[in-house]
Amino acid sequence: MGGAGLTSPRFRSGLALLGILLGLGRAAGSQSRPNFLLLLADDLGIGDVGCYGNSTIRTPNIDRLAGEGVRLTQHLAAEAVCTPSRAAFLTGRYPIRTGMTSGNGHRVLQWAAGAGGLPAQEITFARLLQEQGYVTGLVGKWHLGLNCHSASDHCHHPLSHGFQRFLGLPLGMMGDCAGAEPSEKRATLQRRLLWGSQAALLAALALAGGRLARLARAPWTLVLALAAAAAALHAASRLVGDFIVFADCFLMRNLSVTQQPVRLERLTGLLLAETEDFLRGNKHRPFLLLVSFLHVHTPLVTTEDFRGRSQHGQYGDNVEEMDWMVGRILGALQREGLADRTLVYFASDHGGSLEARAGSVQLGGWNGIYRGGKGMGGWEGGIRVPGIFRWPGVLPAGRVVHEPTSLMDVFPTVVLLGGAALPADRVIDGKNLLPLLRGETQRSEHEFLLHYCEVFLHAARWVQRNRDQDRVWKVHFTTPNFRPGTGACYGSIVCPCYGDVTEHDPPLLFDLSADPGETRPLQPDSEPEFHAVVGRLRQEAALQRSSLSQVHQQLGTIYNVWRPWLQPHCGQFPHYGCDLE
Ligand SMILES: *[C@@H]1O[C@H](CO)[C@@H](O)[C@H](O)[C@H]1NC(C)=O
Ligand SMILES: *[C@@H]1O[C@H](CO)[C@@H](O)[C@H](O)[C@H]1NC(C)=O
Repeated sequence: MGGAGLTSPRFRSGLALLGILLGLGRAAGSQSRPNFLLLLADDLGIGDVGCYGNSTIRTPNIDRLAGEGVRLTQHLAAEAVCTPSRAAFLTGRYPIRTGMTSGNGHRVLQWAAGAGGLPAQEITFARLLQEQGYVTGLVGKWHLGLNCHSASDHCHHPLSHGFQRFLGLPLGMMGDCAGAEPSEKRATLQRRLLWGSQAALLAALALAGGRLARLARAPWTLVLALAAAAAALHAASRLVGDFIVFADCFLMRNLSVTQQPVRLERLTGLLLAETEDFLRGNKHRPFLLLVSFLHVHTPLVTTEDFRGRSQHGQYGDNVEEMDWMVGRILGALQREGLADRTLVYFASDHGGSLEARAGSVQLGGWNGIYRGGKGMGGWEGGIRVPGIFRWPGVLPAGRVVHEPTSLMDVFPTVVLLGGAALPADRVIDGKNLLPLLRGETQRSEHEFLLHYCEVFLHAARWVQRNRDQDRVWKVHFTTPNFRPGTGACYGSIVCPCYGDVTEHDPPLLFDLSADPGETRPLQPDSEPEFHAVVGRLRQEAALQRSSLSQVHQQLGTIYNVWRPWLQPHCGQFPHYGCDLE
């Protein structure tokens, strides 16, 4: 009797249920539509960060971020160089789908005045969030193209890809901007101009000689023109360095060039000020800000305060300065009262560069126990990067996730949290990470990840889901040829994707769960699963190939050469250049 009384079990369980529903409602409420602060480092290796096991470098701010959030230990870039990796990050799609690749050795966009770039029909998370009422901004490096047909169509510009506000370098940090050791680009250009000059000179001499010997009757004007061309090409070869600084090392604010050439010593302060200004100005509305660091790419521009501070030379100084910048940015977030409403993400676009060095001084990053580095299609060191998410109150603090995840996963995660729907008319390769980050599931949705080098499939991984313990298999079809006795392609800036490589038949197989450093290839006659795993991955690769649509290779030669009419500049002929910052 009185079963519905105030103290009855039924009433109490009803109350509990109500409580749960209200609680859930609250959780969902605080979870709805956070701000996004995405921090992307350039060329930072997984072994360069304290919370990933480096005990001698000081990265207290990144480490604290990881302590307050979720740290991913198998976070993978879709490519081991900037342009394609960043395209995949922004679109959630393999570069091979979007055309941000080539098949002839061009790995990244070479010129600010090239015609290639992220195609207009590709959809970035910034664009989808902007449509949902977010204010979107990009500070720092872009490297995904500018113009198509004229210097003012901005077809590939950040402002045409969903960012409402941009301050940064259209390409990124490069040795050429600091007049550092001649880059490969500068050396190649110089070499070609000199060849041209010599060819013109030889032709002029031959014609003149033929004429004097009465063998040929070439007009003297032609001889003179060839001689003049030879002199002009020779003079041009000496100006290549300055020309590249003009052509590629400039700052843009929205659509305008505001500093040409860029003043490197003021850059860090300028980018920090812009970031803080953005956070202050947009604290009352939902925002997405991508801070795309110019650190820690060569030439390692480091302010006075950080020079000589680390135990790891110029490179370590630059890493520690970037960590300090992370601290400054998180401090601003806190100051504006935004920390609890903002999902913060930190990652690197790919692994550290082993080949970046001057003499015996290492100028590139350290990839810890992982083999290989930047530019290598398959080896783990080029693609496994730091990956950290923090969202106080929603993501558990101090959680560590060892599951394979991809930088491409940021796309669906951000898009869905921002209240937008995923595009239904195309393949999205990234997976929503939220359940994994929150600990609602222990497994990532990735079963296969394919590791390309340009358009060539170099390696692939399969997460074999077993009842007791999952296994991560990795197969290498092609590997770069290292300089004998070393673990890198020293002497070139990056390893090639084809040509001077080794095709493996049978492929190399590793059990990454047991051998993350890829040191012990498994043998077909002793590993019973060998053929099954290789077969499964070949099948998956074929399946992906069949799902690709026809695209233009945006990094192919015709799109990737300097086109004078696409050159952005400020000032007027002959006094190009400006400093409005
Ligand atoms: C820490 O990082 C530096 C800089 O890349 C590197 O030289 C060093 O070997 C790393 N140390 C450890 C213990 O990983
Ligand atoms: C870029 O344009 C937006 C408006 O679209 C404006 O709010 C912003 O201040 C401009 N950005 C910069 C860096 O000047």
